[in-house]
Amino acid sequence: MNRTVPPPPHFPDPGRIRSPGTPEASEGPGASGAPGGGILLRRISVQDLRPGMYVVDSGLSWTEHPFLYSEEGLVRSAEHARAVAAEGYIEVFVDPARSANAACRPARGAAADAELGRSVATARGPAPDRGAGHRAEHRSGRRPVPLARETGPAGAIYRDSIQCARSFLHDAEAGNPIDVAAAERCVRGVMGSVGRNADALVSLSRLRTFDAYTFTHCVNVAVLSVVFGSYLGLAGHALRRLGMAALFHDLGKARIPAEVLNKPGRLTEREFAIVQRHPREGLEVLRRNGVEDEGVLLGVVQHHEKHNGRGYPGRLPGGMVHEFGSIIALADVYDALTSERVYKRGMLANRALQIMYGMREADFAPGWAERFIKCLGIYPVGSLVRLEDGRLAVVLEANPEAPLRPTVRLLRADGGSGEVLDLGASGFDSSGPDLLGSDASGPDAPGPAIADCLDPTAHGVDVARHLF
Ligand SMILES: [Fe+2]
Repeated sequence: MNRTVPPPPHFPDPGRIRSPGTPEASEGPGASGAPGGGILLRRISVQDLRPGMYVVDSGLSWTEHPFLYSEEGLVRSAEHARAVAAEGYIEVFVDPARSANAACRPARGAAADAELGRSVATARGPAPDRGAGHRAEHRSGRRPVPLARETGPAGAIYRDSIQCARSFLHDAEAGNPIDVAAAERCVRGVMGSVGRNADALVSLSRLRTFDAYTFTHCVNVAVLSVVFGSYLGLAGHALRRLGMAALFHDLGKARIPAEVLNKPGRLTEREFAIVQRHPREGLEVLRRNGVEDEGVLLGVVQHHEKHNGRGYPGRLPGGMVHEFGSIIALADVYDALTSERVYKRGMLANRALQIMYGMREADFAPGWAERFIKCLGIYPVGSLVRLEDGRLAVVLEANPEAPLRPTVRLLRADGGSGEVLDLGASGFDSSGPDLLGSDASGPDAPGPAIADCLDPTAHGVDVARHLF
């Protein structure tokens, strides 16, 4: 899809045209790890757009965000800014670090992530389970099995799940019965692996391309939803229902004509409307196959609803969406942004989370994007990072209590794997400047801070080699 083509200039009703399809990341500044990776982007109203501001192609699909101006580059003049507003756009992401305009407060690298870290650490929002109120967020220090030992079983579970997704999508397309019991077995397998060590499946889903996007996306969203649901405190039957909804979330796309779904160019309004049918199509397919669980059905039919009421198919305002729909929406966007596609590179996980942070309270209810980031870590497992002392490292384990300070494996100068460092642990002798302004320095300081997030491909680093 050509994301450089702007949407139609005028929309009759911003709330009426709801965008189809799954958000699709494109090769943008965050995709390449180009200078600027690690910058906290700012989402502003086009009314506040000024000459000298640098507009970023966020990687969000313009079909999902038709009022987001995404023509990357500097705003050249006041006329340019006015023209953007006149074309019907409502908002825009700007990159402070590449802006010449002083109104954009520069926030670079570690400082930007520190800002994100503070927001994530202090995130407040409504209880995610709408009333049960018995759960606590947790995902730390409870990895009963080392990552290296869980990698093998996780790989088998991942492959089986993709085969399962391939089967039920083909069956749904052909109008045949789908094997709901097989899907449930896969979800149980995912839950088991996540319970042993969630990082194994999460990093496998990010680092390896096993099959076509359609199938891997179903499984990745299921994995991420189970991990996030578990972090929120869901367990047992509730977590299994969430996993089922997530695995089946795009089932209805099997009922959308392929020529519309795979159209390389812009969709017409009529085609938009057809793609927007997929949540309800999925609901109907599940009902025809005997699935009656309300949570599973709501999770499927509500995964494109937005907190601001501009989602589809119901245009439900925040508070009306079942928590499964909210969880799956976050997993869906994150996987779409970070996945490799034939026509684009996957966005760096760190940048994708910054984009999602910029979508908080519009697309996601207050506190939800922050919770999701806290769950995965500002630098998710498998991220290649540069420490403030210049050394490169791969993130091995997130630290929800100190999101800026995960556990990392250092890379040796000869390209081999070096020692493991818990950046959140004290006992390091650091007498250097306190770049983040929040951590103690001195003889008992935490380890070196992360200065930047890098693209492994651009740096010739095979992350999997250092991870497993
Ligand atoms: Fe979808």
